[in-house]
Order: sequence, then C-alpha cells, then structure tokens
Amino acid sequence: MHLLGLHNLSPVQIRQYLQHAARFVDDQGRVQTPEQDAKRLAGRWVGLLFYEPSNRTRVGFELATARLGGHTVLVEGTSSHWDRTESAVDMARNLEAMELEALVVRHSDRHVPETLVERVAIPVINAGNGSDEHPTQGLTDAFTLARHWGTDDFRGKTIAILGDVRQNRVAHSDMHAFTKLGARVIVAGPRALMPHEEDLTGAARVHTREAALAEADAIVVLRLQRDRLHAAVADLETYARHWCIDEHVLAHEMKPGAVILHPGPVMRGVEMTSRVADGPRCLQLQQVRLSLAMRQAVLTALLDPGWASAPQIPTR
Ligand code: CP
Repeated sequence: MHLLGLHNLSPVQIRQYLQHAARFVDDQGRVQTPEQDAKRLAGRWVGLLFYEPSNRTRVGFELATARLGGHTVLVEGTSSHWDRTESAVDMARNLEAMELEALVVRHSDRHVPETLVERVAIPVINAGNGSDEHPTQGLTDAFTLARHWGTDDFRGKTIAILGDVRQNRVAHSDMHAFTKLGARVIVAGPRALMPHEEDLTGAARVHTREAALAEADAIVVLRLQRDRLHAAVADLETYARHWCIDEHVLAHEMKPGAVILHPGPVMRGVEMTSRVADGPRCLQLQQVRLSLAMRQAVLTALLDPGWASAPQIPTR
C-alpha cells in the first residue's frame, strides 16, 4: 500500500486516516504513542528520500517513526540532477536492497512517487511532489479542523484557501480532503495564481480577500514560494496590501470564530502579521503538533498490516 495523494481516496478512506490519527492524541490534546504502539515498528527502517528542502515534514516523519520504535535514514538529493527521475529510482532501489521497508519521498518532479511505486515493492509515501500534492499535510489540515470543530463531517462549513493555489501542493491536497469531507471550498488570490477551471475540484473561485473571508469558517493561508512567483505577483508589498491577514482584517473581514491554518513557514508581514500568526485564532502550531499523530497513523497503516485495530485503508 502507498499514499501518493488524496485525489484518489474516498471520503471513507480519508475519515479512516483521521480516526487512526485520533489514536495518537490523548484527552488533553497532546500527541501520544500508546504503549502497545511504541514498538510497532521496532527494528524497521524507513528511508527519507528528500530532493527538496524540508523541515516540518522531514522532522515529522523522523519523530513519528522513532515514536513507533523504528529508525530512519535520510538521503538528501538535488533536483537539479540532469536525470532526476532515474536518479531517484536508482536511489530508491538501492535503499530497498538495503532492507529498508518504506520510502518517504519529496521531489520537484510530480511523477517521481508514482514511478517509484512501479519500481520498488515497499510502501511509498509522497511527502510533496512538485506542485501536485502533499497528502500527509492535507490529512493533517483536515484532522486539525475536525478536532477544532468536533466533527469530521464538514457539511455546512466553508473553507477559504488564499494565495498561490495554482502551484501549491498543500492547496491541492487540502481541496481534495475538504471537499470529500463535505465542506464548501473557496479559493482566492492574484488571478495569475488561481487554478485553471479544470483543476478546481469542486471549489469556487472568488477574486478578493473580502469575498473569500466573508463566508469562511476556516482559512488556509498558503506559503508563498518566491522562486515560483515569477511575474505573477508585482512585488510582495502589493501582494500584502491585497492578501495579508492582519489584525484589522481578522476583526472586520473574518467571521467571528473563524480560524486560520498555515502549513508553514509563515512569511510574516506578507501572508499574515506576527500578531495574527502568534494569536489564538491561528492553529499553525496545532497543525504541526497533530502532524506527528497523522504521520504515526500513516506509517502504522502502511507498514503494519498486522495491526489488529487497523481497518483496511486501500490507498491506491
Ligand atoms: N509544511 C511543509 O511541508 O513544511 P516543510 O516544507 O518544512 O516540510
């Protein structure tokens, strides 16, 4: 079994991951590893194959594996290699030959995780493939909102995703997760950063921050990647003037009680101000905390078919 994206998971499968992750959170909301899971991956090794930089995802998988009693080995590559796909495949096959039992892969080429699945016999977890998907972040974001709202039925909720929706893999996985859980999803940002009609996956597109925020029960503020903006955004000051969430926006444009998510790292003063990012309505650190539970859930579900309490989670 693999986890390549959320586009091909059913609502039931997404809810199963959320239910699995709940096992790794205690009554006080702290991430835990139940005693019976602490050795679940004892003696087993997970390869972290990262061809793009990562802090949160990489450390999250390292810690999640360690909490389950397993070990990780990190292989960092460069995406600028002349034959990127072949290089990642070769490395993955080498790691498999060294008895690693799963691969977590991040790569700028969207085809790499799918290619690895064809070439190795161990589970592959997509940790971000170009601008396509970032499924464990999407599951984490859904889990964070499910815990905040007390339900994994998002019908009646509106979630706005702001920023570079076209190129952002978190946005794409979030759109799949949120719509499958029943939410109405709105996307907004500079026109050049909006997805094409065929990529909206059920989301509605609006053209101003005010229009997006007016109805939103939750807002996902995306990370801007300077290297991907090119001519789409005139300059960061202009972007901030139209799209930054500051205290005034929070007080006057957002619904009372609406919360903010951000996958990190935050470009403070451009995507949101420090007061908002560090304030009580921003769930960013909660997302980071819960990602540890979600990654334990994903690793356990894919690596431990003998896990008695695990329902079948077909992912591909
Ligand atoms: N959220 C996220 O993917 O962060 P990293 O790029 O640091 O892994």
